[in-house]
Amino acid sequence: MTEVQRPGTIGLTLSGRSRVAGVMGWPVAHSRSPRLHGYWLRIYGIDGAYVPLPVQPVHFAAALRALPMLGFAGVNVTVPHKEAALGVVDRSDPTARRIGAVNTVVVAPDGTLDGRNSDGFGFIENLRAGVPNWSAAAGPAVLLGAGGAARASAVALLDAGAPEIRIVNRTIERAERLSKDIGGPLRIHDWADRTGALVDAALLVNTTTLGMSGQPPLVLALDRLPTGAVVNDIVYSPLQTELLAAAKARGNAVVDGLGMLLHQARPGFAAWFGVEPAVTPELRRFVLEAPG
Ligand SMILES: NC(=O)c1ccc[n+]([C@@H]2O[C@H](COP(=O)([O-])OP(=O)(O)OC[C@H]3O[C@@H](n4cnc5c(N)ncnc54)[C@H](OP(=O)(O)O)[C@@H]3O)[C@@H](O)[C@H]2O)c1
Repeated sequence: MTEVQRPGTIGLTLSGRSRVAGVMGWPVAHSRSPRLHGYWLRIYGIDGAYVPLPVQPVHFAAALRALPMLGFAGVNVTVPHKEAALGVVDRSDPTARRIGAVNTVVVAPDGTLDGRNSDGFGFIENLRAGVPNWSAAAGPAVLLGAGGAARASAVALLDAGAPEIRIVNRTIERAERLSKDIGGPLRIHDWADRTGALVDAALLVNTTTLGMSGQPPLVLALDRLPTGAVVNDIVYSPLQTELLAAAKARGNAVVDGLGMLLHQARPGFAAWFGVEPAVTPELRRFVLEAPG
């Protein structure tokens, strides 16, 4: 057994055999992924590295295609490259194609690129960890937003058995596009009617940027939401958003957004470094200590 290294202490020295992965984004300086994967590398005593890769959009396709030549095991792909990545990889899994975006790239032994998307997996695992008896089949789910995160969440909820998904978005055309692309029991609600969408809901999720530090607040009266509904905000900066505070005050079970980030990282880490990593309270604390 390799001796376990504690984060915050001096990590393993890299060898010539180190496995290397990273995160491609633009900008990428705010990303918590290097800290998250770095924690696991040290905890599991792995001879490996996970590095930030600031790549401008104009260079993205070339940078991704260069990974096998550089000996990378793979990368996470983040804003603004997730949709573009789908068109660059050699293969993509059905989930990534339905979402329309790739967030995890694995370099196959033959040097080809495998595109996957673990955002929906992270979303569902976070709900299950936060509310152990939660079931997607319990009733209608309301998603505020129709961007990339909403797409991943909607696909994951449908696959997990949600009987109905209500998409509430400011730009109705974007909600219609999402509904057309994904299919299934999706209903579209006007942003102005967002309180009406809450009637009989079993799950409410904020996937908009509203309520995030530096963004406008999310204005939403919760009176019509059943108190048995689970409320999840995928915004995790701040960790306790106004939505979660208001929902908790009226008795709803609440789940914050940090766990989605932590759980979505698991499949990539396992593919690149060969260890199934655990999401623990200590990892949460360690990632939260990071500025930004
Ligand atoms: N916890 C996690 O692991 C995780 C993972 C992914 C994303 N996120 C967070 O999720 C949020 C959304 O990410 P994304 O990638 O889906 O972003 P995105 O594709 O840019 O979508 C943003 C969404 O927010 C809505 N919105 C923005 N400003 C609004 C306003 N003033 N009023 C009403 N709606 C507004 C947009 O509506 P329109 O269509 O009308 O513009 C759109 O639905 C971000 O805060 C991100 O940090 C968290």
